[in-house]
Parts: sequence; structure tokens; C-alpha cells
Amino acid sequence: MGNHNNLDEAIEISAGIYWVGAGTKTFLSRNSFLRIFEGNKTSGSLLIDPGPTSDFVSLSRKVSSVLPGGLLNINLAFINHQDPDVVGVLPKMYAMNRRLNVIATEDTWRLVSLNGLSSVRFRSIDQVQDQRLVLPTGHKLQFIPTPYCHFRGASMIYDLESRILFTGDFLGGVEASGLIATEENWAGVKAFHQIYMPSNEAMKLAVKKIRALEPTPLALAPQHGGLIKGDLIELFLERISELPVGLDIVTTVNDRLPAMIAGLNEVLDAVKETMGEYKVERILKLFKPEGEYPSLITLGRDGLVKDIKGDPFEAINALLNAFMDSATEQQQKLLRPMFNLMML
Ligand SMILES: [Fe+2]
Ligand SMILES: [Fe+2]
Repeated sequence: MGNHNNLDEAIEISAGIYWVGAGTKTFLSRNSFLRIFEGNKTSGSLLIDPGPTSDFVSLSRKVSSVLPGGLLNINLAFINHQDPDVVGVLPKMYAMNRRLNVIATEDTWRLVSLNGLSSVRFRSIDQVQDQRLVLPTGHKLQFIPTPYCHFRGASMIYDLESRILFTGDFLGGVEASGLIATEENWAGVKAFHQIYMPSNEAMKLAVKKIRALEPTPLALAPQHGGLIKGDLIELFLERISELPVGLDIVTTVNDRLPAMIAGLNEVLDAVKETMGEYKVERILKLFKPEGEYPSLITLGRDGLVKDIKGDPFEAINALLNAFMDSATEQQQKLLRPMFNLMML
């Protein structure tokens, strides 16, 4: 499996495991995976993180290309948590296939079942002994709950035969350029976690659980972005353990944020005077730091900054750099002292 796959087709990422996701060319891809089990003269299929309603056609086509009968023949769907990008297709799948079983934590299912799914055969992770499940085919699955990564009831699923750990949103990223992550994916992973993960503590706990797995995973397969393999596993686990996210950022900068927003608006006034209003507005409109989540800087209708998400220091720094890149030498000279002051 290289990084130049045709993402319009299902891709076998390991024996019997297919990527059937979508949107890899857009900024937030969805990775769904189909696991086909064969053994003990029987077979079964598991769909991991099925995907949003909008991916139904693509999912159905990709699953049909590798599993006879397609979505009609899925025995089991696993869902990491209840977000619409994970569970959106479930009501349609259930309407087609009344034999569908869904496996999730009870905290997740309580919410998902409200999508008209209360009569689905639900199998609770919470009740599985040692969080391990042995299938009739002899295959073993392990469930690893990751509370608050990013939802209370989130759980990863570990395929003990392929040694692929499906991590849900944890370690997912925006701006994936292919199916396999490279070091360049880090910027997108970082931005995604700073917005969606509630605290570093929750992520540290998840990392601890990943490191304790026996045997160690060969690949981490998140629901967004690239699959993490080889040396990148340890590198990303190390980095994510140290990353401030969500509340870590909000609580540390909360008191300073209004002053930072006011300061940035003053700087924007000066930049407009120096570079011209039209040019500044265009840069602001197009501003999206590489690998970063769009809309890090929220503009009001009056053109003034209203909010800054993610790490505000990094967001401001990236914006000022964007102005510098578009300024003439003379304009740079005028703006640099003020920018330096802003970043103090
Ligand atoms: Fe999510
Ligand atoms: Fe997600």
C-alpha cells in the first residue's frame, strides 16, 4: 500500500481490511474501514466508523466492490462516538439491513439510538469481559475506551490479528495528502486536536493506553487524515502528549484574549492603512495557515476580529506572516516594528 492510491476505490490496507472512506481530497477526510473475517468455516464483516449521510453513495459503492451484497451484508458496525461524521449513514444502513448489529459504549449509544435506531441490535462494549471479543471466526478484537478523546464514551478498537488500532478522532488530522501520514501531517493533527480535544490530560491517558497494548500496534488508523505507521507512531504519540488543547488553551489565555483581540484589531487598522483595505480584506478572506483549521480567526460583519481559536499566539503569528508575505519591502519596513510588538 503506497501513498498514490486511487481514493475513488476501496483500498486493501492489510489482509482483509479495506479503506472505504471518502473526502480525502477535501480538507477533512473521513476514514471508514471494512474488516472481513473468515475462519472456522464461517465469515463476518465489520464496518468501522461508517461515516456521514453525505458519504452514503461512495461508501455503498466501495463496500460492494469488496463484499458481495455490499452494505446489506454488514454484520457489525463499530462506532467510536456519536458525531454525525461517524454515524450519519447508520439509519439508512439499518433501513436496508435489519440484521445489523452495532457495537459502541453505552454512553455513545444512548445518543446515537435517538436517530430512530432504538430497535437496532446493540452490543455494549461496557459489558465485554476484559474489553476483548472473540468472534465466531476466531478473530479477536479489543476495545480501548478513551474517555473525553473527544467524547466521554469514545472507544478505540484494536484488531489483534492485523495489529491495526482504529483510533477514531484521536490522532486524526485535517489536510491529509494521501492515505499514509508523513511528518507533514502533524500540522493538521495539531490544529484538529487544538479545536476538538478538550484537554491534554484526556490525550495523555489515551497515549498511555496505546503504549500498554500487547502486541504493539503496527499502524494507527484515525477517522480523519493519514494512517500513522512506523517511526511516526512514537513521534506523534510523543508530540500529542505535550500538546496543549481545548481547555488548556482557553483557561490559560482566557484573561488575555480580549486584549489580544483588541491589539490585533489595532494592528489590522495599521495594516489596512499601509497596504490598502482591499488587499488586507482579501488576505483575511483567504487566510488559512498550511495544515491549519480554517476560521481560526473569526471576523465580524464589521470586519473586526471577534474571536481567535486554537493557540491564539500561533494564529496571530501566522496571520502577520501572511501579511508580510504579501507586503512590498517598503511596507514590510513600516509594519515590522508593530508586528514585533504584537508578538511580545
Ligand atoms: Fe468527533
Ligand atoms: Fe470525526
